[in-house]
Amino acid sequence: MKVVVLTGAGISAESGVPTFRGSGGLWKSFRPEELATPEAFKSNPKLVWEWYLWRRSIIANAEPNAGHVGLVELEKRFGENFLLITQNVDGLHQKAGSKRVVELHGNIWRVRCLACKAVYYDYRLESDELPLKCDFCGGIIRPDVVWFGEALPEEALDTAYTWASSCQIFVSIGTSGTVYPAAELPHIAKIKGAKVIEINPEKTPISSIADDIIREPATKGVEKLLSIL
Ligand code: APR
Repeated sequence: MKVVVLTGAGISAESGVPTFRGSGGLWKSFRPEELATPEAFKSNPKLVWEWYLWRRSIIANAEPNAGHVGLVELEKRFGENFLLITQNVDGLHQKAGSKRVVELHGNIWRVRCLACKAVYYDYRLESDELPLKCDFCGGIIRPDVVWFGEALPEEALDTAYTWASSCQIFVSIGTSGTVYPAAELPHIAKIKGAKVIEINPEKTPISSIADDIIREPATKGVEKLLSIL
């Protein structure tokens, strides 16, 4: 039996990382949709980097919670038949010990140089000079994350589609199910005959197609999931 888990910001909420569309998602009164775009970066790269460094500092102090840890247990249980797909860029799944993680929206600790195209990990939390500059050529670097209007990494998306189409159980955890193409994955799984399970304290568009709904925060929800799978 193949099991796919898709996670969103909600799984990291109990680690103290604010969700995007929840009350803690605002920064200096900006909504993520106003900052996480190529246009915002072009017109004000300093502001966008300030936001990312703020988010990095929150994430740097965050520890994986029982939800993340429970998914490591699930990976051990199902081995090759398990895939974790995340929209999160915080790296908390890997910090918990998950090995096979498909990052649909990139990683906040990775950067990409606009000039020489170098891609590398950069763990700075502050800098006297913003935007951050490339270690190799001094060009402007950007976070290697997917912004609104940008394409998702092709290989990650292909893998996600393949697994969503061929799994028997698809579990959605802590995502509002509103940002595409990730939001399409549970629908693909459902159409292909998988059982869809949702873990979310709130109703989402995924709720209407879910076979089982665990209306709990991720920590409790994953504990229940482990007891039924
Ligand atoms: N446990 C589980 N779910 C939770 C919890 C919790 N403790 N707290 C909140 N949630 C749920 C909310 O009910 C909501 O449905 O998590 C969801 C968070 O939704 P969003 O903030 O929209 O996050 P996400 O779905 O991951 O956003 C998708 O949008 O801004 C972009 O690229 C960004 O990856 C992100 C994408």
